[in-house]
Amino acid sequence: MEIVILPNTAEVGRLAADQIESLLAGKAHAVLGLATGSSPLPIYRELEQRYQSGTVSFARARAFTLDEYVGLPDGHPEQYREVIRKEFTDKVDFDPANVHGPAGNAAGTHYACQAYEKAVQAAGGVDLQILGIGTDGHIGFNEPGSSLASRTRIKTLTEQTRRDNARFFDSLDEVPRHVVTQGLGTILEASHILLAATGANKAQAVRHLVEGPVSALCPASALQLHPHVTVLLDDAAASQLS
Ligand code: F6R
Repeated sequence: MEIVILPNTAEVGRLAADQIESLLAGKAHAVLGLATGSSPLPIYRELEQRYQSGTVSFARARAFTLDEYVGLPDGHPEQYREVIRKEFTDKVDFDPANVHGPAGNAAGTHYACQAYEKAVQAAGGVDLQILGIGTDGHIGFNEPGSSLASRTRIKTLTEQTRRDNARFFDSLDEVPRHVVTQGLGTILEASHILLAATGANKAQAVRHLVEGPVSALCPASALQLHPHVTVLLDDAAASQLS
């Protein structure tokens, strides 16, 4: 696991964008794994600028998002499908037909989750997976206690995660209780994993991710089992590392 401590979030965005730009330069049809939430936003901003200045193109790239809320009506501004479109893929030359997300409202959720797994595999797997980390150590929405071998499925959010995400909604009551998320086993199949964490509220989770035992109690610690993980931190998120 490679740990990079950077002075600010803009640098986190630049370093991550360097990796994505160089991947696409060698493989224009690469498969990106996209996360939502605040952590990847500096990466998406930087990629948007590079697209505008002509240094990177997503015209042939494919993307799979990590997770989706269950129960939000289609088109709801906080549906992750909408968020990823507004924050990133609509701002660059991504073909909307090449951007996929798990179905949060499918009638047969189990089959929809299996179909999502198959779609990732049919695309050749994820070349580069962007991740954030929850304050409780989740990646995707694999909350503490998730099996290290889990695949795409429904999960219940912890109250801590619902409170953390309430900032995106008008009230805590509006934050869905369930999500569909890629499993830890799914995420670990990506060729390269790039996790971004900034801010003091992530410091404890980052310590468990990097220095803790591999344990379902901190799902992100499963990344210690992966041969190619880059963790991009600011000073505050790195402040509890020994
Ligand atoms: C979002 C996701 C989550 C977030 C995590 C951190 O698609 O998978 O694991 O990455 O909750 O969220 P932020 O970055 O908003 O602190």
